[in-house]
Amino acid sequence: MKKIKVAVAGLGRIGKIHLTNLCQNFPELEVVAVMDIINESKSIADQFMIPKFEKNFDDLLAVPGLDAVIICSPTDTHADYVIKAAKAGKQIFCEKPLDLSLEQVAKTLDVVEQSGVKLMLGFNRRFDPNFLKIKSMVDAGQVGDPQILKITSRDPGPPPISYIKVSGGLFMDMAIHDFDMARYIMNKEVVEVYSRSAVLVDPAIGDAGDIDTALTTLTFEDGTMANIDNSRKAVYGYDQRLEVFGSKGMVKADNNFPDNHQHYSADGIHGSLPLNFFLERYTTSYLNEMAAFFKSIRTGEDLAVSGKDGLEAMKIALAALKSVKENRPVLVYEVS
Ligand SMILES: NC(=O)c1ccc[n+]([C@@H]2O[C@H](COP(=O)([O-])OP(=O)(O)OC[C@H]3O[C@@H](n4cnc5c(N)ncnc54)[C@H](O)[C@@H]3O)[C@@H](O)[C@H]2O)c1
Repeated sequence: MKKIKVAVAGLGRIGKIHLTNLCQNFPELEVVAVMDIINESKSIADQFMIPKFEKNFDDLLAVPGLDAVIICSPTDTHADYVIKAAKAGKQIFCEKPLDLSLEQVAKTLDVVEQSGVKLMLGFNRRFDPNFLKIKSMVDAGQVGDPQILKITSRDPGPPPISYIKVSGGLFMDMAIHDFDMARYIMNKEVVEVYSRSAVLVDPAIGDAGDIDTALTTLTFEDGTMANIDNSRKAVYGYDQRLEVFGSKGMVKADNNFPDNHQHYSADGIHGSLPLNFFLERYTTSYLNEMAAFFKSIRTGEDLAVSGKDGLEAMKIALAALKSVKENRPVLVYEVS
């Protein structure tokens, strides 16, 4: 079978995860090139013996025989790179979010559609074994009619201020995963968003124009609801829990831990902290999402996460931001 030739753009936190997975777990692929604007990333290319290291995205696309590109560069490059890759006829996996402007996302999705290539967005949590199990149980009716979804999504610590400045802010950068998860688990669209937010972790985040703490209530088209709790800093590690309550019961997923030991002593009962951050906690999901992307390329099957999913999650994030600014519930169609 002919190997699919792949390239990765952006070798930061997430780019390194995807590159490592592609090189170590997918013998049916060949990573033919990588790209980053900084020279330091060349050592990563060398480590994996990637034949080409480019510093310009156009040069990356010009690598002979390239079939697919994995875009892991900062958010403000995504739309531009996706448009270029689509026009060059490459299959595209792009990290979330696609852009910070709905107009730009709509334009980008148009170009992708006209080009006839596939575009999958990096909503990796859909591929996490805990959440996949909950999704399958909800779909099978095991909690009856879902009524309340609760998502706890707290990072162990904030990213650098330089990252925050180009990230689009907590709703667009971090909670967007939770907004996607809410649509995915509940299988329906959100119509109203009510968010409250604060800067409680680091005043520098406020100075950069962002927030670090938020509570959001989503109301779906049939009146069911979701509650999402976000913080940029949980001192005990990455806190990723989800619960669906319905007419026949409740299903929930707790955090993942490096081990399940419990130490009983005169002071109390102690165990390990949750897996520390996305690299450790979502290892399997990153592998699964790549497998799903390449399976879809091979078989022509629909993608598990579409550009439209990216657009809908982004509308919720924009509505959350508007809700905070205007201190009121916001209908999603107000930002559409
Ligand atoms: N799905 C997830 O779990 C997840 C996790 C983290 C980040 N992300 C997303 O991935 C993207 C990157 O985030 P990160 O945390 O890896 O950032 P990062 O800052 O760690 O890395 C970004 C990398 O891109 C490089 N870069 C900068 N400008 C570039 C350009 N014009 N072209 C190519 N490369 C360029 C930087 O040199 C750096 O190596 C963001 O859009 C973020 O939202 C997704």
